[in-house]
Amino acid sequence: MAEQYEYLRTKFTRRRALVSAGAVAGGLLAGCSGSGSGTGTATRSPSPLSAGSTPTEKVDGAVVTPFGRHLAFGADPKTQMRISWQVPLTVRKPYVRVGLKPWELSRRIEAEVRDLHTPGLEGVRLALDQFYLHAALDGLRPGTTYYYGVGHEGFDPASKERHSTVGSFTTAPARAEKFVFTAFGDQGVTPDALANDKLILGREPAFHLHAGDICYADVTGHGKESDIYDPTAWDLFLKQTETVARTVPWMVTTGNHDMEAWYSPNGYGGQSARFSLPENGFDAKNSPGVYSFTYGNVGIVALDANDVSYEIPANKGYSEGRQTAWLDRRLKELREDEGIDFVVVFFHHCAYSTSTHASDGGVRDAWLPLFTKHQVDLVINGHNHVYERTDAIKNGGVGRPVPIGESTDPTRDGIVYVTAGGAGKSLYSFPSGVKDSYEGKVADRESVDTYHWTKSKNQNPDTVEWSRVRYTGYSFLSVEAEAGPAPRLTVSALAESGKRIDHFEVRRGA
Ligand SMILES: [Fe+2]
Repeated sequence: MAEQYEYLRTKFTRRRALVSAGAVAGGLLAGCSGSGSGTGTATRSPSPLSAGSTPTEKVDGAVVTPFGRHLAFGADPKTQMRISWQVPLTVRKPYVRVGLKPWELSRRIEAEVRDLHTPGLEGVRLALDQFYLHAALDGLRPGTTYYYGVGHEGFDPASKERHSTVGSFTTAPARAEKFVFTAFGDQGVTPDALANDKLILGREPAFHLHAGDICYADVTGHGKESDIYDPTAWDLFLKQTETVARTVPWMVTTGNHDMEAWYSPNGYGGQSARFSLPENGFDAKNSPGVYSFTYGNVGIVALDANDVSYEIPANKGYSEGRQTAWLDRRLKELREDEGIDFVVVFFHHCAYSTSTHASDGGVRDAWLPLFTKHQVDLVINGHNHVYERTDAIKNGGVGRPVPIGESTDPTRDGIVYVTAGGAGKSLYSFPSGVKDSYEGKVADRESVDTYHWTKSKNQNPDTVEWSRVRYTGYSFLSVEAEAGPAPRLTVSALAESGKRIDHFEVRRGA
């Protein structure tokens, strides 16, 4: 973390200075550690394009309230948790307290400050500094619920007045047992996004996967400095997300709207400032949305499809093949791990979808051979703001029809691809003449006329038979994983109303 912090210190070229305010007392909790060198306050000179307070002012910490708490696992969810939050003004000595009981929290564990500076744009927006705080907890006990509070000089979560801000999280169990995780993409800040969040919270998932297009602060989504961008949308997003992410690890990857060109490298400096994700991908500094973790008997892999997309090529090829080489290695490791029954991969752009953006040939060309080689069990995408689920796909066609309620075996049938892009942003539709809600039939046809993006950025027409279930309302995915002698994934799609609109089962070698 210290290395990353140094990296962040130098990343934002317009940042003024970050002045260490000195270390606070280390944590008492055995095995916990602060995230390093980060306690500090940002100072900067007033600018004609500046907004907000000047950090050189002495702000009373008692009037500054932390918000936007969000959790993320480290690379080992059994022992590692990252706690992140935001403050509207600079604060002194930010910290977390952690404990096994809500009223018995540890001494202060130092937090890291990441000051994200957004340059002003004459006549469009004021310059802005946003202050994100992070604490890395290592050496936690598996399968254990911890309580935590975030604070700073003048704001103590252990005090009676602030104790209502104390949250909790639970580490992954030492041995695989039944659990639920949820997933969606394309959220933004909307009433429907909040409704989905609340429904997700009710599922009590072990973690949530966010397949990108997280906040839509970059409204345009082309990954260019000419995009329309409002960084304050992130303040609203993190407030919205806090309802669930303060207790449920919120594992994000990167969509096209997450390429915020004002922050180097690759437009991902904003994501690195706001989130603390596992740093075990091919290059955590340059590609924070690429990582992997295991929970129980499931291996999860997050990918950055901006690297391979033919449709929106702002970042196409930036990893120079290193991400795909890492994916090959990582899938091999997971398949060789005797404790892992299922491998789930999630990323933004669709490998198989018939809605507005259709399918991205870049994803197919780069990664589908590896998904097949390593028999990936489930692929989750966003990008199209609908729910769409394929049959099991093998060699580009239907390997086996998988109607609602049926079971599929990836070792025999191929892979089911799910587009879960109904998180909250305005919804898409399906090609004209195609029913919104669909189970095995499209009006009176068995196929759909759609297309896929080619390397030359053309839309190559296809007539496909793999589109099995579709839904145009707000929705999310809920996956129940079971271990034991007959391991299985029960994959369900839930509408914003709570109604189950799809479900199927994945078993290997059944
Ligand atoms: Fe997208």
